[in-house]
Amino acid sequence: MPSLRDLMAKIDIVDVISSYIELKRVGNNYTARCPFHPDDTPSFYVSPSKGIFKCFGCGVGGDAVKFVSLYENVDYWTALQRLAERYRIPIRIEKGGKEDKLFTALRRVAEFYHEELKSSRQALDYLQSRGISMKTALKFMLGYGGDTSALVELLKREGLLEVYERTANITGVEKGIYRDLFKGRLIVPIRDMSGRVVAFGGRSLDGSPPKYINSPESEVFKKGKSLFGLYEAKDYIRESGEVLLVEGYFDLISLWQEGFRNVLAPLGTALTQEQAQLISKLAKRVILLYDGDKAGRKAVRSAVPHLLMAGLEVRVVYLPEGEDPDTFVRKNPAELKRLIATALPVQQELIKRIKEGDTSCMEELLYYAGFIKDSVERFQILKELSHITHIPLSSLNERVPKVEPRREKQEQSLSYHEVLLLAGLYRFGFEEVKLEELRLSPYALELVEAIQRGEYHLLPDYIKNYRTYDLERAFRESIRALSLHEEELPRNFQELRLKSKERPRKLRKR
Ligand code: GTP
Ligand code: MN
Repeated sequence: MPSLRDLMAKIDIVDVISSYIELKRVGNNYTARCPFHPDDTPSFYVSPSKGIFKCFGCGVGGDAVKFVSLYENVDYWTALQRLAERYRIPIRIEKGGKEDKLFTALRRVAEFYHEELKSSRQALDYLQSRGISMKTALKFMLGYGGDTSALVELLKREGLLEVYERTANITGVEKGIYRDLFKGRLIVPIRDMSGRVVAFGGRSLDGSPPKYINSPESEVFKKGKSLFGLYEAKDYIRESGEVLLVEGYFDLISLWQEGFRNVLAPLGTALTQEQAQLISKLAKRVILLYDGDKAGRKAVRSAVPHLLMAGLEVRVVYLPEGEDPDTFVRKNPAELKRLIATALPVQQELIKRIKEGDTSCMEELLYYAGFIKDSVERFQILKELSHITHIPLSSLNERVPKVEPRREKQEQSLSYHEVLLLAGLYRFGFEEVKLEELRLSPYALELVEAIQRGEYHLLPDYIKNYRTYDLERAFRESIRALSLHEEELPRNFQELRLKSKERPRKLRKR
């Protein structure tokens, strides 16, 4: 069976990339306008001799597989399989022995980073400034991305380098030279349920952006299916039947240090249905500890439907403005404990507020009601609401969203600018956007309206979680590109993919 290396040697990066976008030859290289950020000047380069691409505008880069994985929005291994198929090269993605080796590599890297932490003044000072003790640092095996060449040497020595490269945590840039994604960062290892390290999160120590970098998805790491803290917290969760859900790594770590142990956090992304399902296997109840600001409320509104659909009881604790669980637990752990203990199930909390005269909660309650799994429970809530408000049950029922599974197929038919527009509307809101002046596909329009109504469950996860180096700017440029006054930009993924299928598949002659 050919190996990954054989595959990489056979595919021509120019051939692959030009099946998606138009490339222009400049000397020995090729350029284009970058498909991953709004790009007025061609800042995207492809080097056939090195087999890599690089955008000097937004910084993305890598090999042909990486390009496909970014463009088609799939993980590296799916992209690899697609390429192998396209070029009719049989490859076997080895599991079993090889997978064990990958876990060994990840563990060795985590241990290496952890050792580096002990000798990094900067990282130790940082931990101290955030009040994290050495005992906690040890518990979570926190690390520091120090000497990359020493890391590479270690992996080489133990025969793990090639397998570790598959995580894309380090990338070979030139012969023998590697770039570590986590260089200079404070490192938080992410483990699966059985304690195996599957990925890393890395926090900037000097304030240089991005604040956090997470490992790319790999065969052992799927963001939407992992939860930070799972291994450390699972016994406490089973014991209490309850999960405290927070947003950040440091929230979880600080809570742990203060004795709150049944805590989980998604990996910097909006909670997914799979994560909710995973939680429901361990606990009956989830308590969301989120900021009371606008972003926190939005995150709650986006998470609650998934949790209710998984059959979980959901309670929400809104922290005072400007606090996150990390800062709050340090100031007042007793108050946090009290807030957690006195929180009501979200339906009851909303009913209570409506009773107290706050009718603005009605919309929220009717929205959530659509996701309550148990139809008897849903009926009872609506009956109670009808009783309080004197609105007939049938009218209330009409306002409850009919929950149907998302149409995954259609997700792919959004254009690049539509994706950015939606991500921007979700993040920044509708101010200054003249919707009637935009040219949108019916599906994009449907999603725009869903955002307007706050029905975030209709929004594909990758839009909620869209991250780019400057979303605000990209958002504005996409509004411009979609505006009726601009000329047509053929940036429809479906179209491009069809186009790519028509092209004859050439193999590089060797
Ligand atoms: P601290 O400033 O270290 O306390 O961070 P935090 O944990 O309070 O972070 P914040 O509330 O800003 O974000 C919550 C989570 O989102 C983080 O723990 C990360 O997982 C993720 N996150 C935050 N900023 C970034 C970023 O710039 N890039 C990525 N990929 N994830 C981020
Ligand atoms: Mn924080």
